[in-house]
Amino acid sequence: MPTSKPKTTRNAHAGPPALPLGLGEDVVVLKPSIKRFYGHGVPGVQPEELGGRLIVIEGADGSGRSTQIARLVDWLEGTGHATSQVGLKRSNLVSDELDEAKHRNTLSRTTISLFYATDFADQLDNVILPGLRAGYIVLADRYIYTLMARDLVRGMDPEWLKQLYGMALVPDAVFYLHVSPENLIERNFAKDFALDYWESGMDLGLSRDMFESFIEYQKRIVETFRKLRTEYEFTMVDGDRPVDAVQEELRKRISAMLKDETMV
Ligand SMILES: Nc1ncnc2c1ncn2[C@@H]1O[C@H](COP(=O)(O)OP(=O)(O)OP(=O)(O)O)[C@@H](O)[C@H]1O
Ligand SMILES: [Mg+2]
Repeated sequence: MPTSKPKTTRNAHAGPPALPLGLGEDVVVLKPSIKRFYGHGVPGVQPEELGGRLIVIEGADGSGRSTQIARLVDWLEGTGHATSQVGLKRSNLVSDELDEAKHRNTLSRTTISLFYATDFADQLDNVILPGLRAGYIVLADRYIYTLMARDLVRGMDPEWLKQLYGMALVPDAVFYLHVSPENLIERNFAKDFALDYWESGMDLGLSRDMFESFIEYQKRIVETFRKLRTEYEFTMVDGDRPVDAVQEELRKRISAMLKDETMV
């Protein structure tokens, strides 16, 4: 009688792959990887009970995260791995309220930060941890680093943030898609015909011109990510290249990680 869920399952609803799936590749059955929290973690959760893998894709607005994640999902599901996804502001608990609060622009920096942290905690509890318990590969579209970077460029206390996000699980891999501000502007326009007020750092008063503010703000964010790298490990990926080239690098690195070879 089966006593536990299989480590890998095939999702019958996976869409057609954007790149060849690598048919003929062996299906990899995941061995447990050692999991730990950055700090205090989540009360009552033992990291040893978690299987699967947590893979984070970080990067600015329009850096290509969704494009890359959609292809990774096709590829992973096509090679026999069950996947689930999380992203910022996707929790049922506070996402609408967060939009509303940002729109009204009345909350203090600390309250906004705690709002985002609540959204993160909700997804950690309800998607990331259950997914890993079931042996899924969980793909996170951004993680605590974006939340920390946004707060750090606004002068918040690094120690306070470190404590706050001590609840987070250390991912198995973090890829930061680095894209030049000029390309980011082009991609955001291709998508929405607009720049986002917050992702342009307009609240910081860097410039009254949204383009100038966007470029200055994104430079500060990248600089902050570089500083965060001394404490948190990221793999920097050149996101200025064509979609397929970025995807190929990600697959190569993730493949090695899944097979327990060291790269990432
Ligand atoms: N490597 C690439 N080269 C050129 N264009 C790209 C590349 N990757 C994505 N794009 C295009 O850039 C736009 C933004 O891509 P995408 O939506 O994947 O980014 P994102 O990081 O998920 O954005 P958001 O922050 O808005 O969620 C889309 O129009 C997409 O087709
Ligand atoms: Mg996206």
